[in-house]
Amino acid sequence: MPKIVNSWNDFDPLKHAIVGRADMSVIPPEEPATSEKVPVDSEMRGMWGPRPTETVEKANAQLDNYVKVLEKHGVKVDRPTPLQWNQEIKTPDFRTESGMTQMPPRDILLTIGNEIIASANSFRCRYFEYLAYWPLMNEYFENDPEFKWTQAPRPRLTDKSYKHNYYDEKISLEERLERTANKDFVTTEVEPMWDAADVMRMGKDLFIQHGLTTNRKAMEWFKRYYPDLRVHSVNFPGDPYPIHIDATFVPLRPGLIINNPHRPLPVEQRKIFEANDWQIVEAAKPAHDNPPPLCYSSVWLSMNCLVLDHKTVIVEESEVYQAEQMDKLGMNVIPVPFRDAYAFGGGLHCATADVYREGSMEDYFP
Ligand code: NVA
Repeated sequence: MPKIVNSWNDFDPLKHAIVGRADMSVIPPEEPATSEKVPVDSEMRGMWGPRPTETVEKANAQLDNYVKVLEKHGVKVDRPTPLQWNQEIKTPDFRTESGMTQMPPRDILLTIGNEIIASANSFRCRYFEYLAYWPLMNEYFENDPEFKWTQAPRPRLTDKSYKHNYYDEKISLEERLERTANKDFVTTEVEPMWDAADVMRMGKDLFIQHGLTTNRKAMEWFKRYYPDLRVHSVNFPGDPYPIHIDATFVPLRPGLIINNPHRPLPVEQRKIFEANDWQIVEAAKPAHDNPPPLCYSSVWLSMNCLVLDHKTVIVEESEVYQAEQMDKLGMNVIPVPFRDAYAFGGGLHCATADVYREGSMEDYFP
């Protein structure tokens, strides 16, 4: 039987991926972890309910087009099975009014070698999001005898998992940055919590962002679960809303990373890259001053690109500065329109999860 699942990084030749769907997406109601993550000036503050049908259709049209582009470039694409998210989410420990989406698989699924792990997300509304991927996981399990189908320990997400009164609308940007610098986040350390999009995979090394969606106990869990890998906790003090590493620190090929200039990696944490002759380049400025309507993410989705191989990258069509920079860095750029999908959970990288990339576990930082 063939090997279906294999991926050790974000830049080796991509052959098989999952692309999300926008169907039945909901803007979730406020819960202990979410208000901290919605910027104070966001139009989404206090708003919740099913996303307007017209926006779902537009997002799906761009997602479907993205699938066609990937297929044209030799990537097999699978899609999740949407669930009705406009219903109560309830466990013995908590209850919230609705789920969210199955648009960004990158937040939920982490592929490491022949294993796909479903994450331990800290948002209560995302508690059952993994179910949208279970039909695919089952299919891989039935057809690839080496595939390891894993669920990380489920967090209980009781009130003890969050700092209460952490967030106050009056908090200034400076205070937020101070908290990020002090690694003071809304989640507590009672249990491991992590979003898959906080993990940057680099063969033998995992660089994991410590921020609003991933806590220190998660780092410890990764260390024990993968004793043969090296786990590095990274943080970006310039980011007042540190969620997910893929609009902050994005590898393009072995030896080259683009870094959000507003969120530079601290000097101390750069050493491992410098010692191994990796170049960290400031990413180009975004082409837009604001994210599209009803979007949680920042304009820095400009750098949330999908690398197809060491010389080819997909960049959002309107992000002309980012595309130009990629070109200068020696990459062939494939432009794909995607802004209508941003509101559903992110950009071109967020909207995918790796199933198969060629290559094996390399040691880039010996
Ligand atoms: N916090 C990030 C999310 C990127 C996927 C941003 O909006 O910049």
